[in-house]
Amino acid sequence: MSRVVLAGAGEDLVLRVKEATGGDLQVLPPGRLPSDPARLFEQLVDDELPDVLLVGPHAPAPEVLTLAGRLDVQAPGVTVVLVAEPSPDMWRAAMRAGIRDLLPPDADVAEIAAAVERAGHAAAGRRRVLRPVAETDRYAGRVITIASPKGGVGKTTVSTNLAIGLTAAAPQSTVLVDLDVQFGDVASALGLVPEYTLPDAVQGPASEDTMLLKTFLTQHPSGLYAVCGSDSPAAGDRITGEDVSRLLASLAREFRYVVVDTAPGLSEQTLAALDRASDVVMLSSMDVPGVRGLRKEMDVLRELCLIPAGRHVVMNFADPKGGLSVRDVETTIGTGVDVVLPRSASVPATTNQGVPILQSGGRRDPMVRELRRLVSRFSATPLMKAGRYRAKHRAAS
Ligand SMILES: Nc1ncnc2c1ncn2[C@@H]1O[C@H](COP(=O)(O)OP(=O)(O)O)[C@@H](O)[C@H]1O
Ligand SMILES: [Mg+2]
Repeated sequence: MSRVVLAGAGEDLVLRVKEATGGDLQVLPPGRLPSDPARLFEQLVDDELPDVLLVGPHAPAPEVLTLAGRLDVQAPGVTVVLVAEPSPDMWRAAMRAGIRDLLPPDADVAEIAAAVERAGHAAAGRRRVLRPVAETDRYAGRVITIASPKGGVGKTTVSTNLAIGLTAAAPQSTVLVDLDVQFGDVASALGLVPEYTLPDAVQGPASEDTMLLKTFLTQHPSGLYAVCGSDSPAAGDRITGEDVSRLLASLAREFRYVVVDTAPGLSEQTLAALDRASDVVMLSSMDVPGVRGLRKEMDVLRELCLIPAGRHVVMNFADPKGGLSVRDVETTIGTGVDVVLPRSASVPATTNQGVPILQSGGRRDPMVRELRRLVSRFSATPLMKAGRYRAKHRAAS
């Protein structure tokens, strides 16, 4: 039996949902629906997350969409079902926010029961696939791995800008790691001339001592720290998955955000970085081969149970004339797209000059705006604290 919580519902809907769930239901008191999941869960009678959150039509749509989008990142084991007039626009917005199902306001008991059952199954499925948040919470910091099957799609552009954006939000508490071990170009994208590089950080004395490790990092004028890639592809290639795992664990003890740039595809180092990640940013260019590749990579990662609790899908090089809509992409990959970065004439020059566009671009530049949106997915929404899923697992075992 699924744990169901109902919010934003009038008396009449409460009665129907009670009947549909056999009375096994927690109804939240009327009032504003908090857009922060943590606030919402504070209202629950015990410390367990629900499987299904059913939101009635009394909750304003924008608030529900914000909340659902955050739940999708912070507590992906909770499935959201919305009771609202199911117009095409509503479906689209709901899908983007990770809402599983829409029910018309006049849905009868049988329809509600069926939707709750489907949502409960979906929640159970996601919890099996996703590693529990608690497991990634062994480390204080959030490890955000940027990955894509192909090169040239903007991984380095996104990871450098994300790192710069997080540094602005929390100075001195972000480190960027270049795991494109053979041909990494983080140093160039940030205009850095590193004294030490990745092999020094993982193989020498720094690998044994976290305090010493800090002295092997390169500092960017913004306050961002970086582990830059080696100049020698051969030296880079000797980095093992275990090296990566140890490095990221040490950095996460010292930094609030550890952003990881990777090489295309699923190398040993990238798999290790995904295994240590609390979040993955899956990136693709907005074209058919890119999106198909992304789908395959997501399938593989799902099979390997390497999709962490925080999952963010980002499209780059979006072009209205490209003939591919966000909806097409969502249909192909079977999940919502979170951020869409436009093709931007200003970006290549920022790469060449070694100054990320978040530092050099105007606030109104569409690329800057969308990158800021990506940054705020992390800076504005801490992962759920440990314990809730754990409580659930204990209860189940
Ligand atoms: N949205 C964009 N618009 C225009 N050019 C871009 C955009 N994103 C990235 N680029 C450019 O594309 C090239 C490849 O980007 P990069 O971030 O190095 O990709 P990757 O790390 O995936 O290989 C760089 O020259 C970069 O400036
Ligand atoms: Mg790159």
